[in-house]
Amino acid sequence: MKDIHDIEITINGERRAVTVESRRTLADVLRHDLGLTGTHLGCEHGVCGACTVLVDGLPARSCLMFGVQADGREVETVEGLGTPENLNTLQQAFMTEHGLQCGFCTPGFLMLLTALLRENPNPSDDEIRDVVASNICRCTGYAGILRAARLAADSDAIAT
Ligand code: FES
Ligand code: FES
Repeated sequence: MKDIHDIEITINGERRAVTVESRRTLADVLRHDLGLTGTHLGCEHGVCGACTVLVDGLPARSCLMFGVQADGREVETVEGLGTPENLNTLQQAFMTEHGLQCGFCTPGFLMLLTALLRENPNPSDDEIRDVVASNICRCTGYAGILRAARLAADSDAIAT
């Protein structure tokens, strides 16, 4: 018999009800049950950070959380940042500074840096490096990502 739960998660400001199996990861709940495929899965065991979302404002690897653990909590995903027509400051900075190539890792970096810039709107380059080091990008060598974070931090409108 399947062990299932009815849960409610506030996702990008919207309350969503969903029925999940206990074993379902938050990443799979977001992608498969709620259709939010912007959150990507790389390693699926907590190493790469591609699946990073914000849970109650803090970065979390959604492949390491069960969906049921998000019951009653606030989750933010890349879909809650800008839109293709209206990128937010951080997304625009990634585009301007070529902070991506394949883009697979990008949602995780965006969420990670969103949390950093909210907490510390004017981080030093070393502080940015320290945070970015938790996620893996196989394409860029990180220089563009670091420049993008710097540009966003130096912009008037901080990513929200
Ligand atoms: S997919 Fe979650 S850390 Fe790699
Ligand atoms: S842009 Fe390809 S993995 Fe980062």
